[in-house]
Amino acid sequence: MAKIINEPCHTFNEYLLIPGLTKLNHTPDNVCLKTPLVKFAKGKKPSIEMKIPMISAIMQSVSGDKLAIALAKQGGVSFIYGAQSIEDEAAMVAKVKAYNVTSKDKKENPNILLDKKGKLIVGAGINTRDYEQRVPALVKAGVDVLCLDSSEGFSEFQSVTLKWIKKNYKNIPVGAGNVVDGDGFKYLADAGADFVKIGIGGGSICITRETKGIGRGQATATIEVAKARDAYYKKKGVYVPICSDGGIVFDHHITLALAMGADFVMLGRYFARFDESPSKKVKIDGKFYKEYWGEGSARARNWQRYDLGGNKKKLSFVEGVDSYVPYAGSLKDNVELTLLKVKSTMCNCGATSIKEFQDKAVLTLVSQASITEGGAHDVITKK
Ligand code: IMP
Repeated sequence: MAKIINEPCHTFNEYLLIPGLTKLNHTPDNVCLKTPLVKFAKGKKPSIEMKIPMISAIMQSVSGDKLAIALAKQGGVSFIYGAQSIEDEAAMVAKVKAYNVTSKDKKENPNILLDKKGKLIVGAGINTRDYEQRVPALVKAGVDVLCLDSSEGFSEFQSVTLKWIKKNYKNIPVGAGNVVDGDGFKYLADAGADFVKIGIGGGSICITRETKGIGRGQATATIEVAKARDAYYKKKGVYVPICSDGGIVFDHHITLALAMGADFVMLGRYFARFDESPSKKVKIDGKFYKEYWGEGSARARNWQRYDLGGNKKKLSFVEGVDSYVPYAGSLKDNVELTLLKVKSTMCNCGATSIKEFQDKAVLTLVSQASITEGGAHDVITKK
């Protein structure tokens, strides 16, 4: 009979952080959000370290070349969407690498993320089908890091792809996923993944749980995979970073994900709202929105991510929706404000680095009544 986990799984909304001692030096200015993007051996440094713990989702409505340039300037990494032709994806990567970083950029963006040649760092999404053609084209275009894009990554398809890349392009780091437990993490880490993404069914546009009945609450998934990451490091001396992907609704969810052990987070809805995302800005009832659709929606017409391996008949079902998100302005302004909140909470918990935060953080599950208590209540808020 099936193994039953009787503990319910939880989402970010069901947790709060309990503050620790804030010392005089614990101010947002003193907080460093540097984090490894790719694996490294004990005592060594990762080949790519981000300045902020944010990457953008591998989605048509999120990660085009414009957003990739804007995010790299802020210290994070975009993964250009793979649901397009190899030529088009490689062209987007090439555009980011061709961007001429001027002294003005460096002055205005102290966290700007550059490669050894002074070019912006950019990633790209790949799949387990056409990797033998797609990977060489992306590498030729100058991509810094790849990521396998799948709603369910605990699979031999990913293992085979990872091994092929490691054999043919050993200097190109490649992330894999998504997984929601320690077994999935270990499998991909053993197969050579340079980082592992966590999350099934938590994305804002995602209906995978309703459609297929697989997934796990994003907080529980992150906590479980973080335990496996730490055990793997202890046993093998290799630190494989983990990324919490999907389900970040409020800025403080990023802080919670980090506290739970994530090295960085992947965001779709968050970035889709900005000027730099590739989707259309529309006006509805006097308010501005941007279009945002799932890679498994009918609109994306990308069945590679969701097609079940041997299903050649093109018999498919949708796992995502087509939606609008409120337009929010420029990436830079929003990221700066979001990270100020993250830093401020880290100070409340007595930490000035992500590692210190993870070591010191105390999290508590909350009741439904305390969630209600946490919002404005028993007052009539002014419009
Ligand atoms: P968000 O940040 O909550 O909007 O979630 C973004 C994440 O949702 C992506 O990084 C993917 O992992 C996932 N995702 C993207 N498209 C779909 C879809 O159509 N169905 C299910 N999950 C999706």
